[in-house]
Parts: sequence; structure tokens; C-alpha cells
Amino acid sequence: MNERVYRASASAKVILCGEHAVVYGSPAIAVPVSDLRATASFYPNQVDSLRVELPDVGEAWIWPPEPDNHPLALVIRETLAHLGEDDLRGRLVVRSDIPIGGGMGSSAAVATAVVRAVARALGHTLSPEETSSLVYRAEEIWHGTPSGIDNTVIAYERPVWFVRGQPPEPFYPARSFTLVIADSGVSAATREVVLDVRRRWEQDRPRYEALFRAIGDLVRQVRRALEAGEIEVVGPLLDENQRHLAEMGVSSPLLEALVAAARAAGALGAKLAGAGRGGNVIALVREADAARVAEALRRAGATRTFVTIVRPEPSSIAHATPSVVSRS
Ligand code: PMV
Repeated sequence: MNERVYRASASAKVILCGEHAVVYGSPAIAVPVSDLRATASFYPNQVDSLRVELPDVGEAWIWPPEPDNHPLALVIRETLAHLGEDDLRGRLVVRSDIPIGGGMGSSAAVATAVVRAVARALGHTLSPEETSSLVYRAEEIWHGTPSGIDNTVIAYERPVWFVRGQPPEPFYPARSFTLVIADSGVSAATREVVLDVRRRWEQDRPRYEALFRAIGDLVRQVRRALEAGEIEVVGPLLDENQRHLAEMGVSSPLLEALVAAARAAGALGAKLAGAGRGGNVIALVREADAARVAEALRRAGATRTFVTIVRPEPSSIAHATPSVVSRS
């Protein structure tokens, strides 16, 4: 028997450069990780209510959930209200390959996949802008005061230029570039690391503000290089960003070892990505060197590695998936 399914997916994200300084007004760039995705599959008409299943975390509930403040319940409700619909019956199965709590935007990706699948199931298409703002509301429940980076990068699936207090700005690199992402296996709470940087800044403002300014300058150079297709120029700028982050006190011996291993294996540049002290390292590589750099990162202690290509064009996966597929 053929079973109808409306399926949609959304990518992960990683911060390319500018983290921490962005909290103090400098720009940051985040990019999609299209090869790591969350997927939402909607099977209509199998039940006379809405059943939401999250098999990866062993969760399932019938609409409306108890208590009613589940972030996915909120995103479904907001999406239905936005579409002017009130009837959704079937099974919504949500899965994700994205590491949770690793600064890769897993919650925003899950919410984006759900918004897209719900819209498709009801015969609507949402713009990236509409999707992004629906996901932002769910992120507010999950994270309190999200910066808006995750929902924007993920809904547009495009690099985003971000300055605090301004609308995030998606932009196009002129050429594709390849990143190897390595999980250090160490989880560090973003909130704690951000607070620690604040304490250090309060103790020595001139030094920290000089670091933030230097980071802002190199982030601007990274954007110009990406838009000019000068990928080789970006490598040393990422290295420079790593030196600033280390001076700021957010690197660690393991992160330094990973960055050094990536460079020794031929990466054009490498740095920690996100809050630091743990989390991920990213290495900019020539595509042909990706497997070798990934291998070197694993040998130096990375628990997992992912290779992703950031493309000039919006990903075909996010924007051109047929709205109905059949499964036997
Ligand atoms: O945890 P991530 O990868 O989303 O990165 C946090 C980035 C910081 O600049 C350290 C904090 C922030 O809110 O921008």
C-alpha cells in the first residue's frame, strides 16, 4: 500500500567567525551545514488527531500536549495561525542528525523542518523570511533571548552576516567552500563562557575592546573575500580569529591541538566555532583535502567529524523538495 508523506528538512549551522565579539557589537558570520539535517515527515489521515513523534529522544504526544508549552507545540500553533488553518490530523515524525547542544542550531533546525512540513501538508509554501520568524518565536521559548542567527541561517540556508540589534543579512559567497567540522566531545555551556568573557572584559576593557575591534575587522575581510570568491584569503583570517579567541581565554589545550592538527594536514585555516572551551573546531579546506584533514582531526582527539560544502546557490534540498512523495 502506498502511504502519502509530506516531508521537509532543514540544515544545521556553524559560526564561521566573529563569535564572542558579536556580543559587544562586532559582526559575525554563520554558515549552513547542509549535510547535517533535521527532517519532519507528516503522514496524513492515519489518525483522527495530531500525533507528534520524536523517536530520537523517545518522545510522543497527542495534540494538544500536556503541559502545553512544548516548543514544537508552539511552532505548530504559530504556523497554523499564520496559515489561517486550524485542522491538522495525522502523524508528524521528527528526526535529527544534528548534535544537540553543540552550537549547531539543532533546535532551530527541528523547528524549521516542522514549519515546512506542516505548511506543505496543508498546501502552502512559506518564504524563508516567514519561516525564519515563526522559528524565532519557538527559539524564544527554548533559549530565552536568541540572537536570531540560527533561525536566519537555517531558514535561508545561506551564509548570514549578523550584527547585534540589526536584522540578520543573508549573503552569497561567489564560490563554494568546504569546511571540516570536528566535535571535540567536550560540552561547554555557552552561557558560562559568555559570562566569563564578560568578567574578563570588565577587568580589562581596553585589551578586550581591542580584541573585539580586531575580530570585527577580520570578519569584514572574510565577507569581502567570500563575496569575491577568494577562498584562500579566508584561511589566514580564520587563523587570526583563533589567536584572538585564545587570547580571550575561550580556547583549550584540546581545541588548540585540533586546530594544529588540521593545519598540519593541509587546512587553509582553522579555529574553534561557537562559544569555545569545548564544542566544535572548523577547518577551511580544499575539497580534495577534506578526508585527510578529517582523519587528522579524529587522530588528534575529535569524537566525530563532518564535511560540508557551503554553496553560492540556495541548497536544492531545502528549496526544491517535491511537496508530496510516496512511500511503499
Ligand atoms: O553556541 P553557538 O555556536 O550558537 O555560539 C555562541 C556564540 C557566542 O558569540 C559565543 C554567543 C552569542 O550569543 O553570540
